Amino acid sequence: MYTFKDYYNNEVKLSFDDHPFSLEPKHVWVVCRHKDKWLLTKHKGRGYEFPGGNVEEGENAKEAAIREVKEETGGNVEKIYYIGQYNVTGRNETVIKNVYFAKINQLIQQDTYYETEGPILLKKIPSNVRYNHLYSFIMKDGVLDYCMKQIRKTRLLA
Ligand code: GTP
Repeated sequence: MYTFKDYYNNEVKLSFDDHPFSLEPKHVWVVCRHKDKWLLTKHKGRGYEFPGGNVEEGENAKEAAIREVKEETGGNVEKIYYIGQYNVTGRNETVIKNVYFAKINQLIQQDTYYETEGPILLKKIPSNVRYNHLYSFIMKDGVLDYCMKQIRKTRLLA
């Protein structure tokens, strides 16, 4: 378990165990790979981030992850793997998010990308995103670094 502060100084707990904080988390975040690139979305308010969002009524977290990737990037999920879960303790609420790694086999243009401007493909995620105003706050804490290390460690990139 890793504990650290996020961009807004909220406490974050991150674990790569099997659903340590909730069996039915209400939020998902999906690290996406398409061909040899990282697939992100450009959120209209927050900036560049991996896609994700809320689990809706009648779906489970993995279904939400697949749906959010399609809605925010047009990406078709070929394979998806559970990576871990994190818990953000905010002033008013606690957010628990599942993190997935997804392989995207196709990008299909959408009529709308909802609250985003659609797909962003990057060969490399810059090492200094924390200080880059183009990037979303959700990319600016230990979650990104630890999850990327975990994805490499489990050889999912190969
Ligand atoms: P919607 O996404 O439109 O439902 O709006 P919301 O602003 O209510 O967001 P949400 O319920 O997803 O999150 C509530 C608060 O939790 C946010 O304002 C953030 O402070 C925090 N939060 C949500 N997701 C993350 C995350 O991925 N990382 C961090 N560090 N904080 C998060």
